[in-house]
Amino acid sequence: MTSVRLIAAALALVPTLAVSDEAQIVRGQYLVTIAGCNDCHTPMVAGENGPERDMTRMLSGHPEQLVMPPLAVRPDSPWETVTSTTFTAWSGPWGVSFTANLTPDPDTGLGRWTLKNFKDTIRTGRHLGRGREILPPMPIPMYRHFTDEDLEAIFAYLQSIPAVKNRVPEPLPPPAALAAQ
Ligand code: HEC
Repeated sequence: MTSVRLIAAALALVPTLAVSDEAQIVRGQYLVTIAGCNDCHTPMVAGENGPERDMTRMLSGHPEQLVMPPLAVRPDSPWETVTSTTFTAWSGPWGVSFTANLTPDPDTGLGRWTLKNFKDTIRTGRHLGRGREILPPMPIPMYRHFTDEDLEAIFAYLQSIPAVKNRVPEPLPPPAALAAQ
């Protein structure tokens, strides 16, 4: 009798899980949209009506083909933070940072990440929670306040989008950025 009840309970769970997974992904998409992840992680291209996000490369980070030339900003200039035409490479007092590939590609994106890797990165502001510090303008100070449920939904959504193979370059430290000027 007990095992019959257990099987019935287990079967009843199956559709519930499927529905809640879907709901979680939809909520993750909503959060990614309003938190502006695409603003920095999806490259801008010239469109018919001006610059637009290239959604064929959605959330795939700084395009590896776009090698950035040395920056031409004078040290005494009031300009401080400068971005590429794609909005994916950023130069500032921290050096040059390139937005990460957030798609599930296993080699160049977050395909091998666990939910814990993702949460630890956002909460600590360090790669995987223990590596190097995540540089600006990634809004870690704001995003670390996402609730556990929010981060779970965002990660579920990111793992559900099309994988894009795109190897984002490592950041350049400030001395290299200065020497290049
Ligand atoms: C204002 C620009 C900006 C916005 C908005 C932004 N990011 Fe980022 N993000 C960056 C940059 C730049 C980096 C790379 C920083 C570095 O290399 O240290 C980055 C890095 C990351 C990393 C670290 C990857 C790794 O390998 O350690 C994750 C994860 C990430 N972003 C997720 C997100 C998510 C999710 C959102 C939206 C909720 C988001 N980002 C919004 C600019 C941004």
